[in-house]
Amino acid sequence: MTFDRSVKIAPSILSADFADFGREIQAVEAEGADWIHVDVMDGHFVPNLTFGPPAVKAFRPHVKTFMDVHLMIAPVDSYIDAYADAGADMLTAHVEAGPHPHRTLQAIKVAGMQAGIALNPGTPAEAVRELLPLADMVLVMTVNPGFGGQKFIDMTAKVRTIREWIGDRPIHIQIDGGVTPETAPLVVEAGADVLVAGSAVFKGGSVSNPAPYGENMRAIRASIS
Ligand code: DX5
Ligand code: ZN
Repeated sequence: MTFDRSVKIAPSILSADFADFGREIQAVEAEGADWIHVDVMDGHFVPNLTFGPPAVKAFRPHVKTFMDVHLMIAPVDSYIDAYADAGADMLTAHVEAGPHPHRTLQAIKVAGMQAGIALNPGTPAEAVRELLPLADMVLVMTVNPGFGGQKFIDMTAKVRTIREWIGDRPIHIQIDGGVTPETAPLVVEAGADVLVAGSAVFKGGSVSNPAPYGENMRAIRASIS
């Protein structure tokens, strides 16, 4: 598959109806989602607890696009095979999750997935520089991870720096946290190509009234065109 740097919207199902994930995934894809973003939290690396591998495996048959799994867990390595078995297309680990992120990215690729590396707002770009040759994606967090619906923290200078280092290499830059039609243009202009959005996509809609999902995604796309 050729590398695609056009802007993609990845709704985070953290903002979906937790009693109805299958239909929520189908609805948001039917309304135009490019990827599905799954936030895995362990109650230790971040102060919230979400989906283990069996839950992610249950989401898999509903995802027809691309299942993007964001691990907010530490340690990571002992869970890589379980998330591969669950069907993740992209598995992203945090650079802050342990002393050996290089080994983690190698292990994700050996397990047959694309490998992403995430940075918290307090972590400088330099922390991922030596990891770029192994990365398919860099995730720049624009909130402190753990919860949806938080206020955007401006990380455009960091995005710009990483985009310059990437050059022509086939590496995505993903933004996660507080993405709205107001903030999306800032990060896209700086070089991001994958926009995660939870509350800004799911607000106002439901599986029985999914049209707002499409309207919300079109509003984000319109803001960057
Ligand atoms: C935060 C998660 C995000 C979150 C984004 O820890 O990684 O994916 O769901 O939610 P919004 O778009 O509401 O900021
Ligand atoms: Zn996320």
